[in-house]
Amino acid sequence: MPHAFVERLLRLPERAFFLFGPRGVGKSMWLRASLPDAPYFDLLESSLFLELARAPDRIEAMVGQRPEGTWVVVDEVQKVPALLDEVHRLIETKGWRFALCGSSVRKLRHGGANLLAGRAVTRHLECFTSSELGPAFDLSRSLEWGSLPLVSLNPHHAADILDAYVNTYVKEEIKEEGIVRNLPPFLRFLAVAGILNGQVVNRQNVARDASVPRSTVDVYFSILEDTLLGWSLPAYRPGVKVREGAHGKFYWMDAGIARAAAGLLRDPPDRIWRGFALETLIYHELRVFNHTADKHRAIAFYRTAAGMEVDFLIETRTRTSSHPAHVVCVEVKLADRWDRRWEAPMRALAMTPESLVVDRMFGVYAGTREYVFDGVEVLPVAAFLGRLYDGEVF
Ligand SMILES: Nc1ncnc2c1ncn2[C@@H]1O[C@H](COP(=O)(O)OP(=O)(O)OP(=O)(O)O)[C@@H](O)[C@H]1O
Ligand SMILES: [Mg+2]
Repeated sequence: MPHAFVERLLRLPERAFFLFGPRGVGKSMWLRASLPDAPYFDLLESSLFLELARAPDRIEAMVGQRPEGTWVVVDEVQKVPALLDEVHRLIETKGWRFALCGSSVRKLRHGGANLLAGRAVTRHLECFTSSELGPAFDLSRSLEWGSLPLVSLNPHHAADILDAYVNTYVKEEIKEEGIVRNLPPFLRFLAVAGILNGQVVNRQNVARDASVPRSTVDVYFSILEDTLLGWSLPAYRPGVKVREGAHGKFYWMDAGIARAAAGLLRDPPDRIWRGFALETLIYHELRVFNHTADKHRAIAFYRTAAGMEVDFLIETRTRTSSHPAHVVCVEVKLADRWDRRWEAPMRALAMTPESLVVDRMFGVYAGTREYVFDGVEVLPVAAFLGRLYDGEVF
């Protein structure tokens, strides 16, 4: 069991920022712990919400006389997008620093809200990582149930918590969107997308399996991504800016949430599911490290000409006209023994004369021994994650 309070990796930025993250990942708790003395406006409080929705400029008087550099927290900012015009003005006139928290960029963006054009940086919070949980990190539990804070803290109630989580998400986030007026097709889509966790998504097939129009499938995936519940993993093409494409993979932010969406909470996960769950976990850790260590590197998967795949490629140097791109490869296998054939896709990539240099190759597996096989570092999951957070992977 983790301690009552789990220290997060995310550090407070120097200046104004948006903090986005799905429901229940600990955004409010992190804000209160990071800015204990700041005036805190929680727009979930209905009287505050009503007052500020009617008169957004009142926030200035509510903060009162405070010096330049004062931090002010606005939680659930998406509920009153108009407040952002006021925030913009107060940053300029008072020099106050704002922490603006929300569970969806989508509502702000679609509402045409003032996103403060460069005056605020963006930060993300996700489920607990292995390094945040420390000794309480339990790989097999994470593969089964994920690491949503409430799930990690109450492992015996994981199924009920995850079930309620997805239901609440559907009710609050999705219905409120207005885009999804009709719930049954969205629920069918969720089940299909849950089962596809970690796989290349053929949106035509998703449309058929969920009986929803193809164009609606695009909207649904973008809702999952905007509410940060899912992340696409693009296919890497050297020299081409990495971006989401029709041939990308889709990973849920957390294996437990994928399982809930798929409707598999009451079935023991099979081996194939757990394999994708391990990839989901590694992708989560790569993303969080990439973000909190300020690396901002492109992460993708790679498919060789022969159709072999490398699970994760991190671009550590961008290609220019004078030098090739550099990448680090990570191949993930849920197995107690490492099979050297699994190195083949990484080695094939390293041999390609394409404009690409493979700096390091990692094999991550569920065994206990470490190896170095001719340039490929094979590591147990915990050892790999330890090196990742020590900055020794990228
Ligand atoms: N750092 C932490 N240590 C221990 N428990 C935590 C931590 N962060 C969150 N929790 C647990 O998870 C619950 C949800 O956290 P919190 O309300 O901060 O999430 P949130 O991201 O603000 O969610 P929402 O979008 O619903 O407001 C908390 O009530 C607490 O029980
Ligand atoms: Mg909150």
